[in-house]
Amino acid sequence: MMLRDLEQVCEIEKSIYGENCWSRSSFVNELNNTSSVLWVLEDRITDQIIGYAVLWIVDLDGHISNFAITKNRQAQKLGEQMLIYLIAKTIEWNLQKLTLEVRVSNLKAQKLYQKYGFLIEGRRPKYYVDNQEDALIMWTPNILDSNYKNFFETQSQLLISSLTKSQNP
Ligand SMILES: CC(C)(COP(=O)(O)OP(=O)(O)OC[C@H]1O[C@@H](n2cnc3c(N)ncnc32)[C@H](O)[C@@H]1OP(=O)(O)O)[C@@H](O)C(=O)NCCC(=O)NCCS
Repeated sequence: MMLRDLEQVCEIEKSIYGENCWSRSSFVNELNNTSSVLWVLEDRITDQIIGYAVLWIVDLDGHISNFAITKNRQAQKLGEQMLIYLIAKTIEWNLQKLTLEVRVSNLKAQKLYQKYGFLIEGRRPKYYVDNQEDALIMWTPNILDSNYKNFFETQSQLLISSLTKSQNP
């Protein structure tokens, strides 16, 4: 993600989270933070931004602090592809574990993260100020462990074969 991406990113952020969205200055702060990594997912044909992710690196762990796919491109396996990319990068960087907070009501996101080995390990009561909703705290096991790497490889391959099949039925 670059400064020039923020107009599109903030538009998506606002359309998903409304008044509770990250402000432009929150993204600017993250871009200036050497412990943060920010990605955008672009449509190959239109060059439009269709998703983005923000990762904080804290010691040897990665904290996913923002992760979204634009509304009209959800449910097309793009979130899964972006998560695979993020996990592959963090393995490459030798980070050990990934964590995030997710709304109790956000079953869609929980299912995606669970598919890649994140487990619910805690709860932050009333974490979200808008509606006082609790956050679930999810963690991966050690992503550098060979068991996790094998599991991750299998999940990624399954996605690739299902995408290939749907493109060449
Ligand atoms: C959550 C989000 C990132 C998922 O991305 P997506 O591109 O819509 O999801 P994908 O098409 O890649 O689906 C991958 C997996 O996610 C889960 N999932 C996605 N949509 C789902 C739904 N409607 N119901 C249940 N699970 C769902 C499933 O595990 C799915 O795998 P499966 O199809 O094999 O069951 C996206 O919907 C989004 O941006 N939502 C709004 C922002 C948000 O909630 N971000 C996460 C904050 S923690």
